[in-house]
Amino acid sequence: IDNISKFPKDFLWGGATAANQIEGAYLEGGKGLSTSDMAAYKDPYAKGDVDNFTFNVSSIELEKYLKEPDCCLFPKRWGIDFYHHYKEDIALFAEMGFKVYRMSISWARIFPTGLENEPNEEGLLFYDKVIDECLKYGIEPLVTMSHYEMPITLTEKYNGWVHRDLVGLFEKFAVTILKRYKDKVKYWITFNEMNMSLNSLYTGAGVLEDLVDNKLQAAYQSTHHQFVASALAVKAAKELIKDVKIGCMINQIEAYAKTTKPQDQLQALKSNQLNMFFPDIQVRGEYPSYMDRYFRDNNISIEMHEEDKDILKNGCVDFVAISYYMSHVSEDREDAAELATAFDSPIKNEYLEMSQWNWPIDPIGLRISLIKLYDRYQVPLFVAENGLGAKDVLEADNTIHDQYRIDYIKKHIQEMAEAIEDGVELIGYTTWGCIDLISCGTSQMSKRYGFIYVDQDDEGNGTLNRYRKDSFYWYKKVIDSNGVNL
Ligand code: BG6
Repeated sequence: IDNISKFPKDFLWGGATAANQIEGAYLEGGKGLSTSDMAAYKDPYAKGDVDNFTFNVSSIELEKYLKEPDCCLFPKRWGIDFYHHYKEDIALFAEMGFKVYRMSISWARIFPTGLENEPNEEGLLFYDKVIDECLKYGIEPLVTMSHYEMPITLTEKYNGWVHRDLVGLFEKFAVTILKRYKDKVKYWITFNEMNMSLNSLYTGAGVLEDLVDNKLQAAYQSTHHQFVASALAVKAAKELIKDVKIGCMINQIEAYAKTTKPQDQLQALKSNQLNMFFPDIQVRGEYPSYMDRYFRDNNISIEMHEEDKDILKNGCVDFVAISYYMSHVSEDREDAAELATAFDSPIKNEYLEMSQWNWPIDPIGLRISLIKLYDRYQVPLFVAENGLGAKDVLEADNTIHDQYRIDYIKKHIQEMAEAIEDGVELIGYTTWGCIDLISCGTSQMSKRYGFIYVDQDDEGNGTLNRYRKDSFYWYKKVIDSNGVNL
């Protein structure tokens, strides 16, 4: 019985990346500067200030980065030079047997400032080549329209998504790429991890926090604009592409109550609601009633246009994608509200081991998440990110023995199989950073997630040679056996 796969036979096994963390070539091919090009390298361990670590950018920092382009290290500008290595990299994905490759399109490659009327043909051509290369091997592309970047001009001119004009500008971008790739791409995600704007307004929404009075107000106003933009993109996709599958995505961080104390339980429920708020709107097409009170209590009043209700209703997604890295602990305490949506919570779960970057490792939390999400939405689910950021050692013979990564991914796959047995409709799994890339949060190269090692250090030195890790051969077997051979 153990030799029979629990995964459906057309299960989409693969890997995921984001344009801004791999492409490099930040000024080539007519690309404009993007918000991610202005994310400076910060080693959270350098000053021992892990807990105070922020991946926001302030208006003062941005001004400095624009005036003195060489003042700091900006690793996302060089990525892993996928722009020039995509053929080699996709060939390696194909060698592992990928059925799907989750990638994103850089908005600033298509509309360098976001304001142009006509797209940049050279940018569109680049993605034609990447997508064609995938199709050549029978790899299904899954395209994220917006993954943590946008033209920096939109931050300078509008302070990002807090401004309503972003809706129309994004719609222009979305419709352009949908029209261009409609015959090649069937799977789409509109926004990566929409809930993470609550943690970093700059990364998620291109907003400079020091320029807004009420951060929560700015976060929810920005995400309202993203909900509307996402719904418009969904509608356009359905009109343009027969059989399209278009989804939303959140960073799923399941909150457990610290104890059986009812107040702790209530706090966990509230934390989970604040996360579910995002797919609640994108799956059901309307704001959930529980947010009325939250908005009132936090002095949030969202400006909506009259047509927004209809737009949301007519732009419901087909599936819910999640990234899954960790769970969270909720407790009834003074700063509970603040911690409810925190990525790095100071409340530790004594039953879980931590990664080298202090992220709690919780495979069963993935099963719990999938069951709860499916109970709530009854639409197909997709695990669009999951993986272990760790320091790897390149041995003298160019091997990399990353058994810790194999153990991590194996346990998560086992829990996905259990969730499927529990009745969940799960359609795909793309591990994060299937090839080593620049970390989103810290811009480190040394925080590696890949099955493929890229020879480059945090400062950007190295040959950029690609090497297969032990996990590469292991994942190939997993895919080949449809998740049986773990
Ligand atoms: C997800 C993001 O939140 O986590 C990715 O969608 C990111 O872009 C990943 O890289 C891992 O985070 P980090 O900070 O370790 O790169």
